[in-house]
Amino acid sequence: MCGIVGYVGYRKVVPVLLHGLQRLEYRGYDSAGIAVLDSEKKKIVVEKQVGKIKDLQEHLWGKDINGNIGIAHTRWATHGPPSIENAHPHTSQKDEFAVVHNGIIENYAQLKEELIKKGYVFKSQTDTEVVAHLLEEYYQDNLLNTVLKVAKMIEGAYAIGIISTLEPDKIVALRKGSPLIVGLGENENFIASDIPAVLEYTKKFITLDDEEIAVITKDKVEIYNIKGEKVEKKPFTVNWDIAAAEKGGYKHFMLKEIYEQPKTITDTISGFFSDLNNPVYKEMKNIESIVIIACGTSYHAGLVGKFWIEKYAKIPVIVDYASEFRYRDFPVNEKTLVIAISQSGETADTRFAAIDAKKKGAKVLSIVNVVGSSLSRESDFVIYTYCGPEIGVAATKTFTAQLVTLFLFAVKSGFERGYISQEDFEKIHHDVNSLPSLVNEVLKEDKNIENISYKYHNAKDFLFLGRGINYPIAFEGALKLKEISYIHAEGYPAGEMKHGPIALIDETLPVVCIIPKDSLYEKMISNIQEVKARKGIVIAVTDSEDKEVVSLSDNIIKIPSVKNENLYPILSVIPLQLLAYHIATILGKDVDQPRNLAKTVTVE
Ligand code: M6R
Repeated sequence: MCGIVGYVGYRKVVPVLLHGLQRLEYRGYDSAGIAVLDSEKKKIVVEKQVGKIKDLQEHLWGKDINGNIGIAHTRWATHGPPSIENAHPHTSQKDEFAVVHNGIIENYAQLKEELIKKGYVFKSQTDTEVVAHLLEEYYQDNLLNTVLKVAKMIEGAYAIGIISTLEPDKIVALRKGSPLIVGLGENENFIASDIPAVLEYTKKFITLDDEEIAVITKDKVEIYNIKGEKVEKKPFTVNWDIAAAEKGGYKHFMLKEIYEQPKTITDTISGFFSDLNNPVYKEMKNIESIVIIACGTSYHAGLVGKFWIEKYAKIPVIVDYASEFRYRDFPVNEKTLVIAISQSGETADTRFAAIDAKKKGAKVLSIVNVVGSSLSRESDFVIYTYCGPEIGVAATKTFTAQLVTLFLFAVKSGFERGYISQEDFEKIHHDVNSLPSLVNEVLKEDKNIENISYKYHNAKDFLFLGRGINYPIAFEGALKLKEISYIHAEGYPAGEMKHGPIALIDETLPVVCIIPKDSLYEKMISNIQEVKARKGIVIAVTDSEDKEVVSLSDNIIKIPSVKNENLYPILSVIPLQLLAYHIATILGKDVDQPRNLAKTVTVE
């Protein structure tokens, strides 16, 4: 939800800011802007544009902006519609301060009223503008002290970057609730909402914690807490390759990320096995119940994880939307493990639900992709998924990595609890190791899936059906299609279809049926018969070559067979990712940045 980036150093700042914004565009893309301390004009130059970063880039062509220090922002509107006035950066009355902000200032209305009474004139409808005016109102002779004062006045969640003509050698950044990292370079330093924004300049970072303030010049970074005391922070280094944040010859990030899955699954497996001493496994002997909380695609991973944990670790699991779990009185104690799943580790709903559960006495394990993210630091235990950055707004490679992690976590927990022998553990490890090559097999269906997409891209609705461990994959297939093609789609457990959704079926409705040759195969055949009897169009995702499935299906997408039927979800989701991708591209939709969405949802 909004991306911010800032630079101070020896380079020309405008290209650095634009590159950073391009890599943060997944966070929001309705308007963008930059503020530069122009060394020649000795003032803050602000340029903004409605639309995407490329629109801002075009707007900047031929403009002569000189400077080595600046801040920039890409917006996902919360307060006020996308417009030039509402685009960030926002400046103070005398243009002495410029501010970029990700998050929500909850008490902005009251602050605004007080500032208006003092004579401040507001140019935008945003909550952010109050910060610029507050800085001007309270500045005496020290920017850090002013920021400390303003930080105590504003409520809500924020990551803020500030520059000022009054102290033109520095950026001051502060954080509470929204992500913010400081990138450390040689004679240059950076701030950003996320690592990929500045990955081409540095791999060394500090993560700001809540209520910390960074004062950044080109050769120094100092961190303070809200009391103004200096804080020592240990930098960390990421081994992400810059290529991971680029399209690498693919037309879209989403397609690249779908094709990366054999590699990301390999990395997730080896990451998991290099972390077998993770203290969470010792804890598993004491755990009596598990609650999985997550949103969107991560929630679907949790639904599959429930099957595995109950089977291998023999612990009852409930799975809840983080946004719902937080607001009900669910009893937890120290024998409850809450597993919070989040690609970004910044999703507000998931983070706050996990924090609340921890306060109530539960242990919290997070399964997270972004190293050092807020959720990973707020949890008792963390397991990373090792996918590198995922730029496409639709989650793909991080979903299969979450699945692999949950599967291995379930098996390892079963081993620790005495339900799985060493021999079985090794056998299962062997089954999991076969996944990357099986995923490669699935990817060979790409052309077939594209052809099927051409046949049905004009359908108004889609239904996705699966049974048992594959029913959450039906949910995920429907979500993928909805979010990037804007076609209405529903996912259902196939056995539930006759209790309502069957009424939707007619000769115009494509029904994607996930039917691996597993223990529920026959039941699924019966469900497909029910679809066919009502003239629905069947697209079967299957490893079966039985006559029955062939004769009932209008289209078949092949997946390879897998020895351990519990692993089918990791394969069966991939054709659904490709189906959504092709339908959306045929319809001319922006698959990497679908309308109204943002990759990281840091507001409740
Ligand atoms: O970063 P998270 O995994 O916490 O994000 C959760 C959801 O916002 C996310 O999965 C969303 O549903 C994706 N757009 C799905 O493709």
